[in-house]
Amino acid sequence: MRLNMRVHVTPGPIASGTVRVPGDKSIAHRWLILAATAHGTSRLLGLPPSLDVRSTAACLAKLSVPGRPALEAWAGNAGGAAEGHGSTWNPDNPEAPERLLEVEGEGRSGLVEPPDDLDCGNSGTAMRLLAGMLASVPFTSTLVGDQSLSTRPMERVAAPLREMGAAVRTTEGHAPIKIEGGDLRGIVSALALPSAQVKGALLFAGLGAEGSTIVTEPAATRDHTERAFAALGLPVSVEGSTITVRGGSEHQGFSASVPGDPSSAAFLVAAAALSRVELSITGLGLNPSRLHYLQILSRMGVRTRITVEREELGEPVGELWVAPDSELVGTEVGADELPLIIDEVPVLALLATQARGETWFAEVGELRVKESDRLAGIARGIAALGGQAGVEGDDLVVSGVGLRGGVADAQGDHRLAMAFAVAALRADAPCDVSGMEAADVSFPGFLSVIRELGAAVGPAS
Ligand code: S3P
Repeated sequence: MRLNMRVHVTPGPIASGTVRVPGDKSIAHRWLILAATAHGTSRLLGLPPSLDVRSTAACLAKLSVPGRPALEAWAGNAGGAAEGHGSTWNPDNPEAPERLLEVEGEGRSGLVEPPDDLDCGNSGTAMRLLAGMLASVPFTSTLVGDQSLSTRPMERVAAPLREMGAAVRTTEGHAPIKIEGGDLRGIVSALALPSAQVKGALLFAGLGAEGSTIVTEPAATRDHTERAFAALGLPVSVEGSTITVRGGSEHQGFSASVPGDPSSAAFLVAAAALSRVELSITGLGLNPSRLHYLQILSRMGVRTRITVEREELGEPVGELWVAPDSELVGTEVGADELPLIIDEVPVLALLATQARGETWFAEVGELRVKESDRLAGIARGIAALGGQAGVEGDDLVVSGVGLRGGVADAQGDHRLAMAFAVAALRADAPCDVSGMEAADVSFPGFLSVIRELGAAVGPAS
């Protein structure tokens, strides 16, 4: 990754238009794991060449003998130097044939002990989902990550996996995580906190466990794992907030096209809202558990409409249309809403700098353990760009006084980098954002897409 890429944003509106965004990162991690553990060939189109997803592919390549060449080639240099990867995503043709990844699998029992550590790079989702799958296979593996990932909490996933019978050792609650898997038994687990990663890990582990694994969530989180299992005919059932998976089942290879990532789309929606222009985002994942941010936007005065056109492995796909036609107004975001907008808080908070009155985000402490301390990072970034935001206990309060211009640092966090760059489009004076290279973690091509829409973003002098 190119280090400390600093961009200069000259404020001004984007133009209206129709765009696409790279494939959904959350979905891609799950489908890659399912492809590597399937019987037979899986064909995946539209995988995002984001660093996080490449990390999962690189880890799976080390575990899967038949799938290795294709996964290894696709992963490229994930987790290592990745300069230029951002430009490999072609917004005009994300489903071009060369974007097809064909993975051979021989089921879970076809996986082999990895020759060395599995490097999850910056990706918490890779680490936690892989931990679940690896708990169910009879060999030892060690998951490692970059500096940021190595500070993030891992006991939340290690503890229930131990309860299922795996030997899981964290390093004082963090990565590296050493897992001796196999001989799992199903458990009944009431999750202490809402986390799609922990839920997903237990469901992947449950597939290889004896008996049923029953997971209850304290609040709804994204349901990509459940949807993919069901679409593949795996024995999963959902009743209210409880998900049950029966162990011992295997699945066949499958073909699917990864829909565009609604969390990446959120940055473009915000750019359209700040510019008061219409925007259409096509080929987008429209899973309701990822679109709660549209309800917050509606309360802030941004009108949107979604049209579902098809399904891919249980995931609705279609168009999101944005029509901001009124002044932005502040809103109160309740604690119960957080799990469904966990990745969109940075961009919503930056948008709130332009919304009349104050916007409150209640009990958003979980943001402290994301790719960076996002709670502090958002408040610091808004202040650095000449706005006003504060942290009160676990709440975030943003004043709609605008941004006077300034220099903000993304602190290695992809979502902070993109949120700052988009907010700068509506600042009173030019802004610099440093650490912009982090966007490649989830949205390779972000700068090209917003430049194509007319944003004046160039290298900072
Ligand atoms: C994700 C779940 C969320 C989210 C992350 C992706 C997933 O994390 O923040 O970007 O794909 O399951 P938590 O489960 O830790 O909330």
